[in-house]
Amino acid sequence: MEFHVITLFPELFAAANWPGMVGRALKAGLIKIEAHALREHGLGNYRQVDDTPYGGGSGMLLRPEPLFAAIEGVLGAHPGLWRVLLTPQGEPLEQSMVRELSARRPGLLLVAGRYEGVDERVRTQADQEISIGDYVLSGGELPAMMLIEAVARLVPGVLGNPQSLSEESFADGLLEYPHYTRPEEFRGMRVPEVLLSGDHQKIHAWRKAEALKRTARRRPDLLKRRRP
Ligand code: ADE
Repeated sequence: MEFHVITLFPELFAAANWPGMVGRALKAGLIKIEAHALREHGLGNYRQVDDTPYGGGSGMLLRPEPLFAAIEGVLGAHPGLWRVLLTPQGEPLEQSMVRELSARRPGLLLVAGRYEGVDERVRTQADQEISIGDYVLSGGELPAMMLIEAVARLVPGVLGNPQSLSEESFADGLLEYPHYTRPEEFRGMRVPEVLLSGDHQKIHAWRKAEALKRTARRRPDLLKRRRP
């Protein structure tokens, strides 16, 4: 699966920077991440990409010409990419969307905005607008990285143990049950007896009950939205 990113900071996406799973998937050729410099499509001698808003107001907006040219350039060389604009005004990212995105072939074209935002006309070039949460960052680069990380780990072969995908948080609309490893007792805190029992049916039932309890306490909104 391919990830293309249009950004003013292509160096952030260098393969050497990716830790862990994504780094290994890149080396193994399971995924490809290619950053495309928006600045190359900037206007005039100064390669200008931003400008002041019509009607006044603070801050700078990314102009449409460099963004359109960059998007058309990437799609010319890599047709069929699903175009995603990262913006705080997009649909809030959640695991069900991550799953859908991981099935998009040949891959994703992520457009990272900067400054106060992008010219409204750029929205016409996106198949989907995604936000990573209700807070504002100064650019779409970190959101793009988060999206790549979330999607890449669902690409077949990227995770060592695919079973962990079906057990992790959000897999069935619940937060995950509590986990313990050695030692059995640490500073007076004991591992729940059931986990030491070797009774797999009991362990399974305990985990399910704990996941439900935890979700009800911490994220009742998830329970309300859950399909039985
Ligand atoms: N760019 C700036 N803030 C953002 C957010 N919360 N989600 C996606 N893109 C953004």
